[in-house]
Amino acid sequence: MSTVLQTHELVRRFGGFVATDHVSLKVEAGARHALIGPNGAGKTTLINLLTGYLAPTEGRVTLLGEDVTAMAQYARCRRGLVRTFQINQLFADMTVLESVALSVSERLRLGGSWFKPLAARGEAVDEAAAILQRLGLLPDAYEATRNLAYGRQRLIEIALALAQHPKVLLLDEPAAGVPTSESRELFDVIAQLPRDVTILLIEHDMDLVFRFAERISVLVSGALLLEDTPDVIASHPKVREVYLGEAHD
Ligand SMILES: Nc1ncnc2c1ncn2[C@@H]1O[C@H](COP(=O)(O)OP(=O)(O)OP(=O)(O)O)[C@@H](O)[C@H]1O
Ligand SMILES: [Mg+2]
Repeated sequence: MSTVLQTHELVRRFGGFVATDHVSLKVEAGARHALIGPNGAGKTTLINLLTGYLAPTEGRVTLLGEDVTAMAQYARCRRGLVRTFQINQLFADMTVLESVALSVSERLRLGGSWFKPLAARGEAVDEAAAILQRLGLLPDAYEATRNLAYGRQRLIEIALALAQHPKVLLLDEPAAGVPTSESRELFDVIAQLPRDVTILLIEHDMDLVFRFAERISVLVSGALLLEDTPDVIASHPKVREVYLGEAHD
């Protein structure tokens, strides 16, 4: 199996505080990989280092074998490293189809031609419709994004990310704030994405993690405690002590 995304002894300090402590993480092609750990373990910080939102204090990040440590966020995105963003005001006011078509247009660098008639952007609209269909969002295509239930809005965020043609998709608590009744469906959709999209996600809900993940990395106090299959992680005494114990507090 080939590694698509890797960190090498990655360190991030905030003043004297070590938020990321010599993390060497490998994400394999096609992985369904979850990153878990207690609150404040440094999960979001690690994602921010991967995307280039934050620069590491030490260490390196490689994407498809290329060192991207000094590369800007948009350049990493162009190379296929994509994270989801919360729907902003612009998208909230647009329809679901328009929102995703805009994200496709951005990838196709049609940005300047966005205000041309819809027909001029047929390619972007066709692709957006295909993404909506894949995610079960087609019935909502002409709804304003803001009118959708929260769980459906999180699906739109995934649709916006898919429009960027990710090779690796980073999801930081994709079901946060979503009612349990909707979060299972959301995770099922994520799990059913094609295998050419490698997925690394952060999630606190252990039921969802164990349904989704084939590989789990446990982060504690900025450092990787261990990485293994869900079965091993679930029964590992260290994990029970450090992570699952805390979850029951
Ligand atoms: N910009 C920053 N400046 C200073 N400290 C920060 C900064 N960002 C994060 N931290 C600290 O780094 C630690 C890790 O934070 P991070 O958000 O990565 O944790 P997390 O594992 O994502 O937690 P949660 O599960 O609550 O989302 C925390 O102690 C946090 O306060
Ligand atoms: Mg976080």
